[in-house]
Amino acid sequence: MFNIVLLVVLVLVAQADKLVQIQALWRHGARTPIFCNWNCEYFRNHTMLEGYLTPTGMRQHYVLGQWMRERYIVKNKLLSDIFNAQEITIYATDVNRTIMSAMSNFQGMYSNNGPNVPNVEESFLKPPNPDAKPDEDIGKSALKYNIQVLPIHMRAAMTDIQLRAYGAPQCAQAAKFQIENQHTQLVKNVSQKAHDTIIQFCNEMNIDPNNFTIFNLSEYMDTFYSSIYNDYPMPEKLQKETYEKADAAYSMTIALKLYQTWKQITTQSAPFFDQLFNYTEQALSKDENVKSSKYVVYSAHDVTVQLVASALNITSAECMAQVYLGQEVQNKNCIYTYPGFASNIIWELWQEETTNEPYFKILYNGTEMNLCNKNSTKCMYKEFKELILAQKGDFEKDCDIEIEPIIEYRVPVWMTTLTIIFIVIIVGFCFYGVYLYKQIRQDKTLLSQNL
Ligand SMILES: *[C@@H]1O[C@H](CO)[C@@H](O)[C@H](O)[C@H]1NC(C)=O
Ligand SMILES: *[C@@H]1O[C@H](CO)[C@@H](O)[C@H](O)[C@H]1NC(C)=O
Ligand SMILES: *[C@@H]1O[C@H](CO)[C@@H](O)[C@H](O)[C@H]1NC(C)=O
Ligand SMILES: *[C@@H]1O[C@H](CO)[C@@H](O)[C@H](O)[C@H]1NC(C)=O
Ligand SMILES: *[C@@H]1O[C@H](CO)[C@@H](O)[C@H](O)[C@H]1NC(C)=O
Ligand SMILES: *[C@@H]1O[C@H](CO)[C@@H](O)[C@H](O)[C@H]1NC(C)=O
Ligand SMILES: *[C@@H]1O[C@H](CO)[C@@H](O)[C@H](O)[C@H]1NC(C)=O
Ligand SMILES: *[C@@H]1O[C@H](CO)[C@@H](O)[C@H](O)[C@H]1NC(C)=O
Ligand SMILES: *[C@@H]1O[C@H](CO)[C@@H](O)[C@H](O)[C@H]1NC(C)=O
Repeated sequence: MFNIVLLVVLVLVAQADKLVQIQALWRHGARTPIFCNWNCEYFRNHTMLEGYLTPTGMRQHYVLGQWMRERYIVKNKLLSDIFNAQEITIYATDVNRTIMSAMSNFQGMYSNNGPNVPNVEESFLKPPNPDAKPDEDIGKSALKYNIQVLPIHMRAAMTDIQLRAYGAPQCAQAAKFQIENQHTQLVKNVSQKAHDTIIQFCNEMNIDPNNFTIFNLSEYMDTFYSSIYNDYPMPEKLQKETYEKADAAYSMTIALKLYQTWKQITTQSAPFFDQLFNYTEQALSKDENVKSSKYVVYSAHDVTVQLVASALNITSAECMAQVYLGQEVQNKNCIYTYPGFASNIIWELWQEETTNEPYFKILYNGTEMNLCNKNSTKCMYKEFKELILAQKGDFEKDCDIEIEPIIEYRVPVWMTTLTIIFIVIIVGFCFYGVYLYKQIRQDKTLLSQNL
């Protein structure tokens, strides 16, 4: 009997589809404010207006890392139990909070199982500086407490079109899109619905409601989220009810401001998908020489998550507005909440057991989403790629990117100095030449006069 059960289990395990790679895009954890509005003077005095990752934010990502460990190391055994640099590639935007979020996340994934030092001479384990010595209780751990450190890659902000195409200058046209987007009929309709909320909000906050838009409101909400998550003070007069109404309007403001049209979405997300497909295809490659990562991370921002989720059709400005306006929602998959701290999208690349055909499952905040215009959370990779390529915008053209960067050649000082000296010498020689010439002529005249 036991043997039969074992056999069945073995067959089931053997027949299971195989997870070959994961890619994850996430927003950083809780941070300090970035807008100067509520409590601004206090935040500024305490240099807290920089959007730094806070202890709350570190914890959020640490726990997400533990969740990743449970799913992809313990349950699925996709990744090694100890950190293996061959398996993992991490990208972050060149912003402190996304870099630190990635670090926190991986401490959760690989806590306290970093390497030990080998049995070598004590002096090899020290830098050459006199008196340098490790903690007495460090033991054999390379780093105290067996911490594991990780390499994190960043592109220069200006060239990071994969994770920062939401704004200018990475996408030059984005600045124009954002201005236009704030004056569409959809925004007018939403603003009309939000009118009473705004009046009530300004009243309780003691703000002039003149020219106070849903976008101004959302900047306050952004600050409030920092306050709530990090235990900073909240305005006393603001009623819970008003806050909740403001929150409902806030959830769709980045979608309205940044990604209102399908063209904006498909253009600005194009470089991200190029990179995603590159890594997917490396993982599927049969070529032995192609090195592929089993886990690729993109540590980024709310606006990046919203952009990519919109391109996947799991959210949109339109469906969020329909929810807000109480209209019938056409997109049944619509995520209408804000991509809050540590929100995340995970692409799981599976291969079918019998056919070996690759397919994706995509998780938003850990829940499988319906994909590829179907009532199914499974989408064949081929079909997924075809859909994305069919909708993909021309990034360089539609964003108005200068393909040939203007390179400034700077002449070094020594070269300038030498050139000047050289010219002075030449000029000197010329004068001397003229002088000699005159002398010779004078001599000749004298000579002829004498003759
Ligand atoms: C901010 O600093 C200024 C100057 O040091 C001080 O006058 C002011 O009271 C401070 N404000 C707050 C809210 O801490
Ligand atoms: C990152 O942190 C450093 C110092 O901690 C600070 O000087 C710099 O402005 C920060 N950069 C960003 C983009 O926040
Ligand atoms: C805005 O509302 C008007 C009237 O309520 C409606 O006719 C129009 O279709 C709406 N426009 C959008 C873009 O939602
Ligand atoms: C509000 O906007 C109007 C027109 O857009 C402008 O004339 C007015 O000066 C603005 N008021 C304030 C207080 O900024
Ligand atoms: C609203 O936001 C705009 C753009 O950020 C800003 O220029 C304007 O001063 C803000 N208005 C109010 C009343 O805060
Ligand atoms: C993707 O792969 C192509 C072809 O190998 C390469 O030209 C391109 O630079 C890669 N793009 C990214 C974003 O990695
Ligand atoms: C995803 O997580 C973020 C952060 O907690 C949250 O704000 C958002 O509502 C979540 N969305 C969904 C659809 O679970
Ligand atoms: C998103 O929806 C549009 C319109 O329904 C459709 O044409 C496109 O194929 C969808 N894209 C994806 C990736 O599901
Ligand atoms: C989608 O599929 C699920 C089960 O797979 C089913 O319960 C549900 O009714 C389906 N929804 C639609 C809109 O077809």
